[in-house]
This record gives sequence, C-alpha cells and structure tokens, in this order.
Amino acid sequence: MITCSAPGKVYLFGEHAVVYGESAICCAVELRTKVHVEKSESIIIESTLGTTGIDHETHPYVSYAIEKMQQLANIEGVRIRIESELPVGSGLGSSAAVTVATIKALDILYECGLSLEDIAGKAHEIERMVQGNASPTDTYVSTMGGVVMIPQRKKLPLIECPIVIGNTNRFSSTKELVGNVAKLRSEFPEIIEPILSDIGQMSLLAEKLVHENDYETIGKLMNVNQGLLDAIGVGSAELSTLVYAARNNGAISAKITGAGGGGCMVALAGKDSTSAIANAIEDAGGEAIITKNTEEGVRLE
Ligand code: MEV
Repeated sequence: MITCSAPGKVYLFGEHAVVYGESAICCAVELRTKVHVEKSESIIIESTLGTTGIDHETHPYVSYAIEKMQQLANIEGVRIRIESELPVGSGLGSSAAVTVATIKALDILYECGLSLEDIAGKAHEIERMVQGNASPTDTYVSTMGGVVMIPQRKKLPLIECPIVIGNTNRFSSTKELVGNVAKLRSEFPEIIEPILSDIGQMSLLAEKLVHENDYETIGKLMNVNQGLLDAIGVGSAELSTLVYAARNNGAISAKITGAGGGGCMVALAGKDSTSAIANAIEDAGGEAIITKNTEEGVRLE
C-alpha cells in the first residue's frame, strides 16, 4: 500500500482576485489529507462521504484523478481510502489536497514518473473540470508547500507567527461564489475591476513585507483585503463575527480565507495571543484551529 499526503492552505492575500490574473499570497498549513492506495479487483473509493466506484457526484476529484492517471497507466482496479484533517467546503483547500495526494499516490503505485510540476498541472486541470473557473493557486500550493506567490510561482519565506483558523462550519461552494463574483464584475466592471486590482496590489506590496517579517504591516493590509472581500459580496455575518472576535483578542489581522460565503477565516496571532484568539473564536460560535505554515507539500508518508 502507498500512502501520500498533501496540505491545505490559507490565503494571506488575493482569493477571488487571483481568478482574474491578479497576484495572491497563499501558504500551505500543517493540516493534511492522506490518501492510501493499493491495487485491487475493481475501483473502490472510500471516504467519510461513502464508498463508491468512479462517481463524479460523490467523489468528483478522486474520480477525475483516476481517469487522468488511466491515460498514463493501466489502472483497472485500485482501492483508494481518504482520511482528512481538512473540512470539506471550508476554504482550506480540501479538494486540492485530495486531488494532489491521489495523483501522487497513483503516480508512485503505477511508476508514472510525474514531476511536481506535472502533478500540480494535472490537479489544476481537474479543479477546472469540477469547479469551472479555478485558479492554479490551491493545487500549486498543496503540491509545492511553503508560502507561494501566484501567478509568479515564487516561493517566499515561511511566516513566523502562529496562524489561527476559525471555521464557521457553514459549507460554501467555491464554484457558486466564484460565479457570484463574476456576475457582479460583469454588472459593474468599472467598480469591481479596480477592487480586484487593489487586492492584487496588496499581494505585490506584501512580498517585500514577508521577506522582512513585518507582520504588523502585513496585518494592516490583510484587514484592508478583508474589507474588499466584503465589498465583492463573499462575506457573511458568521465570518465577520469570527473576524472581529479574533481582532478584538490580540490578532494582528483577521480575514476570510478561500472562497468565503461560509467556510473559514484566518488570523495571524500576535505574541502570546494564540489561545485568547482561539477561545474568542469558539465563544463566538466558530471552531478554532491553531496551526502553522509548512514548507512541505505533497509527500510519501
Ligand atoms: C478558493 O480557495 C480560492 C478562489 O480564489 C478560487 C480560485 O482561486 O480558484 C476563490
């Protein structure tokens, strides 16, 4: 049996804007999806969602990953078991992580010899098939790990302060939210395009700040990014409640991460404020996850 794992991610800057070619900064976090694969009589996919064969409704990412790898190897029967620390539909990149880890595990089991670039590319094609207009960010970061600037594909130094995630536990559909932003942008291009471009500018400014470990200034900009995400309609009352709970309890910054609507927010924690932020998120009705970023992308366990 082969087991591979791939990390989830949080966005410091740039979700949604990155779909239109603007820059984003995203970091892999130490929350992983593990995929176990072994040869078998037939194709079996097992997860908390159920046990299926190829099934584009229940297991779309894994089903497309198997079909893509069937173009390279004779995959007739394989048993795939998924275990994840990443809640589905929460903005933490669970779909990218499961896709990347499945491709890597099948690559090793069937000796296809894919490079990391190949894996990231194939995973991005699958996200596009399932979600429509998906940027390469989630799949690239999950494959390569670290703090990454997209579309430049530039690795930045790791962030040294702790990261606290607040999960609203409200499922959010990336496809739907990306579609809503596209609609708003086509209705009001002269208003929405500059907002998306401002978000991209923040990522460009933040590149230098990440190199300088200037988390205070990064935090100020992340808070501005939060305001602009609200402006393009991807906020929610629950997300805002968690954002303010974190900010009022020592967070340097707090914003939505991922598609928004529901899902998660992310806070950079100030010195010694990690537990206070986590407690405040829980008291405000969210689920707090204390984590850190990681240099490690997809790996063989
Ligand atoms: C979703 O994690 C991030 C979005 O920017 C969509 C994408 O980049 O594909 C909303």
